[in-house]
Amino acid sequence: MSTSATQAPRTDAERMADPNWWRQAAVYQIYPRSFADSNGDGIGDIQGITAKVPYLKELGIDAVWLSPFYPSALADGGYDVDDYRNVDPKLGTLEDFDEMAAALHAAGIKLVADIVPNHSSDRHEWFKEALASPKGSAARERYIFRDGKGENGELPPSDWDSVFGGPVWERITEPDGTPGQWYMHIFAKEQPDFNWDNPEVREDFLKTLRFWSDRGVDGFRIDVAHGMAKDLSEPMPMKADLAARAHGTDGFVDGSHPFWDRDEVHEVYAEWRKLFNEYNPPRTAVAEAWVHESRRARYASPEGLGQAFNFDLLQADFDAPSFRKIITENLIAAKETGASSTWVFSNHDVVRHATRYGLPKGGSVAQGTNAAQDISSTKPKGQDGKGWLLAGAPAEELDVELGLRRARAATLLMLALPGSAYLYQGEELGLREVTEIPDSERQDPSFFRNPGVEIGRDGCRVPLPWTADGPSFGFGQDRAHLPQPEWFARYAVSEQEGVEGSTLEFYRRALRLRSELQADEELEWVETGNQDVLHFSRPGGWDTVTNFGTEPFELPAGTVVVSSGPLEDGLLPADTSAWVVRDA
Ligand code: NOJ
Repeated sequence: MSTSATQAPRTDAERMADPNWWRQAAVYQIYPRSFADSNGDGIGDIQGITAKVPYLKELGIDAVWLSPFYPSALADGGYDVDDYRNVDPKLGTLEDFDEMAAALHAAGIKLVADIVPNHSSDRHEWFKEALASPKGSAARERYIFRDGKGENGELPPSDWDSVFGGPVWERITEPDGTPGQWYMHIFAKEQPDFNWDNPEVREDFLKTLRFWSDRGVDGFRIDVAHGMAKDLSEPMPMKADLAARAHGTDGFVDGSHPFWDRDEVHEVYAEWRKLFNEYNPPRTAVAEAWVHESRRARYASPEGLGQAFNFDLLQADFDAPSFRKIITENLIAAKETGASSTWVFSNHDVVRHATRYGLPKGGSVAQGTNAAQDISSTKPKGQDGKGWLLAGAPAEELDVELGLRRARAATLLMLALPGSAYLYQGEELGLREVTEIPDSERQDPSFFRNPGVEIGRDGCRVPLPWTADGPSFGFGQDRAHLPQPEWFARYAVSEQEGVEGSTLEFYRRALRLRSELQADEELEWVETGNQDVLHFSRPGGWDTVTNFGTEPFELPAGTVVVSSGPLEDGLLPADTSAWVVRDA
């Protein structure tokens, strides 16, 4: 490409040795159980991932983030960990893990592992020991046990709700068979919260981080990074008090919530940072912290985890002024801490963006554990689409084609932003949410704990289609653990490879160009005179224009190196983005 913006290409070895590799990385999230099944048991596994390293290389990503792969009963899709320093036998062995890490590294791809420090599973050795030990024992002190209220301790210690619905407290039966203490679980009851005031817990996680760092893990994604520090001193506030003190839905701004986003959590990360910096290049970390934006920077500080997710774009409608405001604010915030920003539209917890953007409101929020529900039998159908309902929202109809067009436009915009871009497996195929999952096959605890209210997150976790036919569209040799819909055939990798204009080839091209065009983390807005069109420039003459409006828009002078959809008579149509590189 003979444009002014092209950089001298870096070798894989140069990129791998760079301590700043993460700052502008394209990170691809793999949900291991649903990526590729090598042994035909219906569950994706580690060898399946290794076999797809050439695919990942061809895609052009810089790093893979693996959602939990540890031994687990899957009460919460693997975020209920039985043993932090092992691989789930359903997924493989530690040797398989080492082989996968080596194959990724040989392909120039970094490996980020998910760490779940707020809670273990109720099958963890420590929790079993706690249940078998008496009240007040050292074994109970690793978790959060309290006596109940009421005459016989029959009432929970507080009235707080868990994230998945139902109380945050579960009562146990003592070893002598009598009803006993209660333990705290912010998520499912199979996920007891650790007591992070206990030095033994802290030590054990340092050991875990070292274990994986020594095995070649390059970075960590920290689950519920804002949940570990707790102040449960009496009297515990009532949930109504907490709601009254919250800053809208964005959480507390002063760190005074009893279990979310307390300042003490950063002491833990300061210790982790010392450990990360013992490695060369230093291990990286990104916080999953759903906190008020004013408090996100603490997680991203160089003395702490170094980077934090920002879910602002993911929660926004497809709307130019909202996108611009979010981008501007996050770039400023990242600069203040020295971190780089993060961007994400889809992950394993939310309705895929190709669905969100196909809903009439242009992105109706479907976040956290809310998800789309199929009401195709009662609603008119659109194109090859369905009638849809978002949990808690009025019935709406999905426009499949519009959803994908906007998703591609949003992705191209994101890939041009300074900072790290997080992609979720299957979005490169243009997958939308799967709604055709019968209740009897659902797996997500949020579905079971909120009957009739929440449908859960299974719709974005359905195993990938690799081929147009076969018992599980090439995912494995047999049926997949979640049912795949018929329409997956058209979205299979085999149907898109080498096909011009396919979503897969579009992602490949954009990712390849991104690594060539990226330079300093600067961005400058260019005024378009049209509030529905965003235009920004990156150093070296790399321009991105996104048309959120309805009328075609004239692009700036230069070469259009990629666009999210075809141009119309040289103009940028509605719901489309383009990268323009100024000619040298
Ligand atoms: C956030 C994870 O992304 C989600 O999948 C999980 O259910 C909760 N944390 C609890 O670990």
